[in-house]
Amino acid sequence: MSERIIPIVDHHYAASVPSVPADTGSAPQQPTDRFHRPLHDLRISVTDRCNFRCTYCMPKEIFDKHYEFLPHADLLSFEEITRAARVFMALGVRKIRLTGGEPLLRKNLERLVEMLHGLRTPEGLPPELTLTTNGSILARKATLLKEAGLDRVTVSLDALDDAAFRQMNDVDFPVAEVLRGIDAALAAGLGPVKVNMVVKRGTNDAQILPMAEHFRGTGVVLRFIEYMDVGNTNGWRMDEVLPSQQVIDRIHAAHALHPLEPHSAGETAQRWAYDDGAGEIGVISSVTRAFCGDCNRARLSMEGKLYLCLFATHGHDVRALLRGDPRSGLTPVSDEQLRAALAQVWTARDDRYSLLRGTAAGLAQRAERRVEMSYIGG
Ligand code: GTP
Ligand code: 5AD
Ligand code: SF4
Ligand code: SF4
Repeated sequence: MSERIIPIVDHHYAASVPSVPADTGSAPQQPTDRFHRPLHDLRISVTDRCNFRCTYCMPKEIFDKHYEFLPHADLLSFEEITRAARVFMALGVRKIRLTGGEPLLRKNLERLVEMLHGLRTPEGLPPELTLTTNGSILARKATLLKEAGLDRVTVSLDALDDAAFRQMNDVDFPVAEVLRGIDAALAAGLGPVKVNMVVKRGTNDAQILPMAEHFRGTGVVLRFIEYMDVGNTNGWRMDEVLPSQQVIDRIHAAHALHPLEPHSAGETAQRWAYDDGAGEIGVISSVTRAFCGDCNRARLSMEGKLYLCLFATHGHDVRALLRGDPRSGLTPVSDEQLRAALAQVWTARDDRYSLLRGTAAGLAQRAERRVEMSYIGG
């Protein structure tokens, strides 16, 4: 009998149920964490499934036909997600990004978009609503999403050359279909459309210039992401990281660039503009230029675990608060209790993995089991 190696990743990530303060009234309205960082972005992952197997994210050897994705009952319902989002907005969240896995694989996602678009900040405004997608079924969905209230989309695309792209997604998916999705998003008014390219030295770095030249002058903002050591399955090695400075140098040699001021504190990307007015690009340099100092992002997984960092080893079980938890005798909490519990969690936050990466603390964190990108979204 052939024996199967037990996968080193499953979804039983460590998580604890946040405590609910007795005096909910004294919880801060706009909590800041231990490094004075407010809560501003909420990234909600709606599914752990994806139709791609990008080697740096869902390597086929692990995410194969034996891999157990979460059963539907474990996922937060749209009502639960919307309730959590409403409470997060009371704590300062103004921008919500839907991610996955591939979020467009979640059935009727446009319904969730509509529900989230119906929420209001204390100032009476809807949240800024965005979506990260691999673009594979975006051409079919763009108009529906726009009508439901989505503001904009970010499409992941790692190569323009068809053979190189098929190799990156590892399921032989053609690039033309993703380009059609980007066009549909532009036509539907889901702009500014951003395209994210993860750069792996020696794998797709030859695609940097073709990608830049393809999107120059189209209004699409192309961003180059340094390959990161997220999760435990992608076999990350430092020598496969191409520092963003080299990306800029390569493009600058062909098309002169100058730096732009950041739009806001806590931004992931450093922005650059073409001198000839053909638009802007960005670089996201988590490895060579950590941006934890202003990180205002919280991440909620599809099963309702809250993570305070992309490299977290430990989650906070929000679903247990929403649904109650028979194992611990917990009954569902009120919105006010949820708000106070989440405020307490954010106040205690001290995550800053990218800043610690090279240090003993960072190495210790790396040795622990960390969440996968396909579980928590970018
Ligand atoms: P925009 O508002 O559209 O500019 O979004 P964004 O830059 O906040 O988000 P996006 O999801 O497009 O982020 C781009 C990529 O940056 C992600 O796919 C991740 O690879 C990386 N990234 C995003 N947030 C973080 C973060 O908090 N820490 C680290 N280390 N990387 C991040
Ligand atoms: N390093 C950098 N970016 C990654 N993404 C997924 N895995 C990694 C990684 N290891 C990006 C994808 C997508 C977003 C969801 O996260 O390209 O744009
Ligand atoms: Fe899917 Fe995005 Fe991960 Fe690729 S990077 S496997 S498209 S979730
Ligand atoms: Fe934020 Fe963690 Fe990324 Fe730093 S490494 S920017 S703390 S998510």
